[in-house]
Amino acid sequence: MTTRILFVCLGNICRSPAAEAVFSSLSKQAGLDVSLDSAGTAGYHIGKAPYAPMQDAASARGYDLSELRARQFSAADFDDFDLLIGMDMDNVADMKTKRPNGNTTPIRLFTDYTSDSKASDIPDPYFTRDYEGALTLIEEASAGLISWLEKEVAV
Ligand code: 4NP
Repeated sequence: MTTRILFVCLGNICRSPAAEAVFSSLSKQAGLDVSLDSAGTAGYHIGKAPYAPMQDAASARGYDLSELRARQFSAADFDDFDLLIGMDMDNVADMKTKRPNGNTTPIRLFTDYTSDSKASDIPDPYFTRDYEGALTLIEEASAGLISWLEKEVAV
């Protein structure tokens, strides 16, 4: 069964497209049956490609973000995905405000899947400029989510 996963940040030009591309690459290597997308809770960058410095940093690690385009998170995503993953606690809170009555699609923080219990948010490199730190956390969380899926979901 295909597991449909949506990665969500604020602008959908830095962290969540990176998460989509990293997770796509690592889940392919693991042989998982997943369908992936990313979205932003804000509509500032709809239709735009990922932010160039993030594309460059991701490309240096072998991840291609160039075909991705930003879109805004919407209530329909609760039906279209099996798991919604926020890059920070604001993303999680913003998604919850759009949840349709009666919907039970899980919303998780990406760092829930890291072994580093101190990590909570994936700091936004659009503001911090720490692309490497964000990518390293995204890789760790992706590996953790893959392990969780291998255990919890028939893949
Ligand atoms: P992201 O980063 O949420 O990781 O895509 C941001 C990019 C742009 C803006 C905010 C966050 N912005 O305000 O334009």
